[in-house]
This record gives sequence, C-alpha cells and structure tokens, in this order.
Amino acid sequence: MPHIVILATGGTIAGASDARSQAGYNAGQISAEQLVAAAPGLEMIARISTEQVATIGSQDMNETVWFTLAARIDALLARDDVDGVLVTHGTDTLEETALFLDLVVSGEKPVVLVGAMRPATALSADGPLNLLEAVLVATAPQARNRGTLVVLNDMIHGAMDVTKSSTMEVQTFRSPNFGPAGHVTPNGVVFFRRAARRPVTYILPPAPPLPRVSIIYAHAGMDDGEIRGAVAAGAKGIVLAGVGDGNAAKAAIAALSEAVAAGIVVVRASRTGSGPVMRNIEVPDDALGFVASDFYGPAKARVLLQLLIANGITTPGAVQMAFGGPI
Ligand code: SIN
Repeated sequence: MPHIVILATGGTIAGASDARSQAGYNAGQISAEQLVAAAPGLEMIARISTEQVATIGSQDMNETVWFTLAARIDALLARDDVDGVLVTHGTDTLEETALFLDLVVSGEKPVVLVGAMRPATALSADGPLNLLEAVLVATAPQARNRGTLVVLNDMIHGAMDVTKSSTMEVQTFRSPNFGPAGHVTPNGVVFFRRAARRPVTYILPPAPPLPRVSIIYAHAGMDDGEIRGAVAAGAKGIVLAGVGDGNAAKAAIAALSEAVAAGIVVVRASRTGSGPVMRNIEVPDDALGFVASDFYGPAKARVLLQLLIANGITTPGAVQMAFGGPI
C-alpha cells in the first residue's frame, strides 16, 4: 500500500462547533489522528502517518509554518517509504500556502493541500470526504509531477490558479482562468489537463523572514497615502491590486514610479479576480519600470515576489520573466 504522510496545520477542517450549526466554531480543535478516524475507508487506500505541524486558523498562517512545512515535505519526499504528502489547512489562505509550496518544493511525488468549509462536528461536514479524495489523489500515479495540488469538493486544482471565491459556499475553490486540473469521480482520479506549473524552484533562505512585500488595494478616490506608507514600512516590493487591468489613479501610479526609483520592485496585479494583467496596455510599464502580473492575483503575486527578491531577482526584466514573460 502507498504511504501518505498528513501534515496537519488546523483550519475549519479541524474545527469544532455545535453539531447543528457551523456558526461560532473554533478552528483547529481536532487532531490529525481524529481527522483520519473520521474518514472510514482511508485505511483501504493508503498507510497513513500523521504529524501536527501547527494548530491555527489559516488567517494566522505565517512564514515560520511555511518554512517548517517546506523542510518537512522535502525530507519526507526524499524517503523511499513515503509516496506523497497531504497538508490539511484552513481555506482562507490555503491558496497562498499552495503556491508557496509549489514554488519551493521540487520532485515528482504529489503534494496535496486539503481543507473544508464546514467544521468537523457540523452535520454534513465536508472534511472527511475531502480528506479521502485528497488521499486518493496523493496516491494516484497520474498525480505525479504536477506540482502542488489542491483538492476540495471533488475537484483537483493547480496551485497557481486556484482561489477561494466565496465566503460561505462549499464549492468555494475555483480556478477562474483555466478551470480545475481534474476531478475525483466514483471511478477514480481523472486529470483533463496539466495544472499550470512554473518550471522554476526557488531557494529558501535559512530562516524567515522573507522580504517584506505589501499589497495595495486600488479604489476610486485613491491617493498616494498607502503606497508611501508601504515604502516607509520598509517594503522591498509592492503588489498593486489594481482596478481593471492593474491600474490606479495618477497619484498612485506616480508614487509607485517613485518607489521603483528607490529600488522597490512594483508588480501590477488586478483586483477583478480573473484574467491576465498585460504589459504596456493601460500603463506604460516599460517607461515606469513596472512588472505586469500575468495570471497571478494579488495574494499569489505577493508570494512569488517575496521568493524572487529572496533569490536576488529584482530587475523588472527578470521579475517579468517569472511572471509569465514579456506579454
Ligand atoms: C481558516 O482558514 O482557518 C478558517 C476558514 C476555513 O478553514 O474554512
């Protein structure tokens, strides 16, 4: 039987509440062993080992846990007796951890993140089935060499595109640009395309912190205040969650241009939730030294930019190559 190691971090999948309601629950109350025990049938699919890496709601996910996960996954996947790793995670920042792991963990064995929208004690909790399906994916030969995957609600997503799209719905995880990479069906795991995976694996510094990168959310009536605040706080990079095609008011664009002149890397992303941000369409990136985020939304662009700066990749041309090239 394949051997899958579950690294538990908390989240709603491990949350507890009154059984009739999902309101007012506490995330991260249920241990990894209890999660496994709640999914009968797992023992017929794989030999499961569990490790509790953290016990947090994912709003508190942080670089210390990210570095621990990356090191532990590297060590586990190097072992001949481990066939894949599962990470249980809160849904709120799951997509950021998935991209981080995709960008720093190499190798062919599956790494799968899984969460749930209803706490473990809710009626019709979705965690046990999601966990079982994630184990099915982690043990599937066709899941190898696809980078980090996310499994919830019968769907398999690639780390780059997947995003939480609804505060409440069970089917909250979507890949708005490319669609899911596959499904878990009663007949097994089916992939219908490769998850988009960047070919590069970035090197982590020996310990956190990663370089500070701020996200600035654009809006009507915007001025340069937030951007100047980010610069004053020591940002090494700024991601603009811009309107439309990654745009912002003239005062904000001027402040971002000043930030570039001061050595800060500026990436323009979009607050719209889907579609690419392209170079030199609405904003003269070449003239201002900006980078266009391609299909990376603001939260994911921030993770990638942190790793790029940590790896000494800071010129607009080199950063643009990591963000999909000069489109
Ligand atoms: C969290 O992200 O930890 C809370 C929400 C959830 O897991 O669905």
